[in-house]
Amino acid sequence: MARQKVTVVGAGNVGATCAHWIVSKELADVVLVDIVEGVPQGKALDLLEAAPVMKFDVNVVGATSYEATADSDVVVITAGVPRKKDPVTGKFPSRDELVKTNQKIVGEVARQVARYSPNTIIIIVSNPLDAMCHVALKESGFPSERVIGQAGALDTARYKTFIAQELGVSVRDVHGIVLGGHGDTMVPLPRHTSVAGIPVRELMAEDKLQAIIQRTRNGGGEIVGLIGVSAWYAPSAGTVEMVEAVLRDQKRVIPSAVLLNGEYGYNGLYIGVPAVLGAKGIEKVITMDLNDEEKTMLDVSAKAVQDVVNILGY
Ligand code: NAI
Ligand code: 2OP
Repeated sequence: MARQKVTVVGAGNVGATCAHWIVSKELADVVLVDIVEGVPQGKALDLLEAAPVMKFDVNVVGATSYEATADSDVVVITAGVPRKKDPVTGKFPSRDELVKTNQKIVGEVARQVARYSPNTIIIIVSNPLDAMCHVALKESGFPSERVIGQAGALDTARYKTFIAQELGVSVRDVHGIVLGGHGDTMVPLPRHTSVAGIPVRELMAEDKLQAIIQRTRNGGGEIVGLIGVSAWYAPSAGTVEMVEAVLRDQKRVIPSAVLLNGEYGYNGLYIGVPAVLGAKGIEKVITMDLNDEEKTMLDVSAKAVQDVVNILGY
């Protein structure tokens, strides 16, 4: 069987780390794309030169155009600009300006991706995540099962990390899920969280659990506060988990940003819900039986996502 191909657009912190983990797991050949000449080529070459030591038999190339990406099985989009001070004016862009800037970038990338890989599955990472999924969906012209957003995989990973740390147990035995948009309105679900099947509330006091929920919601901000830029290791790990599920047709149940058509009471909105990921992309949306409190929190999150989506002007 021919090797599979994954394109990663944006060779910055998240994109390059995705490439790193895809090749180290020997999932596929990787094409790393960026607009800055030399950067994707240089990072790809550096990674490839690790192959004799780490012993991976896959190829990595870098490019500033899309020819080499043709017929990719999966395309990960991490291209975008972070929220940073303008060196000339000294001002931060407004939220609307940042959304518009990234809309332009992700839109152009999605058009190129669709042109060269019309059958691929797109995984969006660029922020603001849920809104950028709408951009990629519109500009690629793909059906929604082939345009998926990564957020829940990361947010759930952070949630599980904090629970394992607090209880002093292996992360492998912690199960849980975080729904909603990728922002501080996200919805961790303690009622659906367990350690080796034992409900977390039997193991942890409520105040500790609530502190972990709050820390999860601020998970991105916590890293920015420490490093000064946003995270990349855990975001890439979450993304590669989704890439693997698609490439290997694993039917993994991973909370993902998907376009809802009536599920959970939302129509035409991308938001994080549990979904089955396989070779066709989103193969099924799982509708959970949420209680009133959980549904109210999801409504708040959906409203926050909708407010950003409205800026796109679609
Ligand atoms: P970064 O600044 O390190 O990398 C972004 C890269 O995109 C840069 O190398 C830049 O040159 C490139 N780029 C810009 N315009 C491009 C274009 N038109 N075509 C190709 N490449 C282009 O940023 P980082 O840390 O890698 O983050 C990337 C994005 O992912 C950001 O929007 C960030 O907010 C988001 N993010 C999302 C997460 C999630 O869970 N969904 C988690 C972490 C980051
Ligand atoms: C994160 O959650 C900023 O989306 C990024 O780390």
